[in-house]
Amino acid sequence: MSLPANASNRRRLDDAPLLVAARGGTPAQTPVWFMRQAGRSLPEYRRAREGVPMLRACLTPELVCEITLQPVRRHGVDAAILFSDIVLPLYASGVELDIVAGTGPVVNHPVRGAADVAALPGLRAEQVHGVGEAVRLLVHELGETPLIGFAGAPFTLASYLVEGGPSRNHERTKALMRSEPETWHALLGKLAENTLEFLRVQLDAGVDAVQLFDSWAGALSPHDYATYVRPHTDRILRGVAEYTDDRVPRIHFGVGTGELLGSMWECGASVLGVDWRVPLDRAVRRLTPMGGEPPVVQGNLDPAVLFADWESVRSEVDRILAEGRSAGGHVFNLGHGVLPDTDPDVLTGIVEYVHSVSRTARLDHA
Ligand code: CP3
Repeated sequence: MSLPANASNRRRLDDAPLLVAARGGTPAQTPVWFMRQAGRSLPEYRRAREGVPMLRACLTPELVCEITLQPVRRHGVDAAILFSDIVLPLYASGVELDIVAGTGPVVNHPVRGAADVAALPGLRAEQVHGVGEAVRLLVHELGETPLIGFAGAPFTLASYLVEGGPSRNHERTKALMRSEPETWHALLGKLAENTLEFLRVQLDAGVDAVQLFDSWAGALSPHDYATYVRPHTDRILRGVAEYTDDRVPRIHFGVGTGELLGSMWECGASVLGVDWRVPLDRAVRRLTPMGGEPPVVQGNLDPAVLFADWESVRSEVDRILAEGRSAGGHVFNLGHGVLPDTDPDVLTGIVEYVHSVSRTARLDHA
């Protein structure tokens, strides 16, 4: 029997830099991790995945555990992120979809109207039992390194379901939201419930933080985000806060969301992810218009910068660390995921550099 997420046996990693920073404290070093750190940039990942389809890999606990650990071993990052995909709970609940190499998730029967929404299955915890099993293995293997669980937010998931696959303009999704608002809200309500259930499975199994990915929310105007999306994302983040007695940090992230940051923050995250288009100090100013406590932010090195010479990478890291100082806490990350052709040694170099610079800065201030 699994114990509830807020049970007192949840492991306490009081000094883990990621968790200290996420709670607004002063960590021994600036924590660093990378979205998509477990993935195609690593030769050991490519070997582990040979001949195993993505969605099957995600439901094989030993393989998820191994792939999740790879970047922790190699780079010395301050957190592991569970190896999975945002569409996994849809697949596990019975939605016919596939992950097509070079394309992304493709849905066989797109959701285009009220009948499709009504037919969309709910997720039952046992359908993602393999994910919980992987988390339990990982918590055991990781020692003092926190494990971040994650899920996709309703808008980004809805876009895949309605468009039937990746989309540049999200035109069918936006048409549905406007033309059939009731159908739209029913769809997002169902997706929010599924996401919350998926996160509860991970929390019960022991993840130390969660990240909610609304990768494509930046396609929306602030008005549409607030009207059609925010209530559902709010439901998830507040649901997690309640389920964990506010003890598990909640990171919320999207791409191209400069104009939405305030609205996304109001959904009840504890850390806000920022992409590279908005400097962190500007993001912090946007989130504290009347003064008050500055937020904890995560980001925001442009993943494409990692292809430049090391001096350029280092000077960008310096700039981001400086801009992050105005925040209530800073979790160093990229502004989006690691690109597949990234040289993994550059990632290791960034981890070492952020750690050494931030430790020295702490000593100078001591
Ligand atoms: O590096 C890898 O390619 C790992 C394997 C893989 C993942 N997803 C892991 C993943 C693959 C092939 C996918 C398929 C997929 N799913 C794609 C295509 C990727 C490609 O470039 O071919 C896409 C776009 C999805 C949908 C998806 N998954 C989104 C929008 C997100 C949110 C994060 C983002 O990139 O915007 C995910 C999450 C995801 N997929 C993670 C991982 C390991 C999240 C955790 C993390 O950041 O490490």
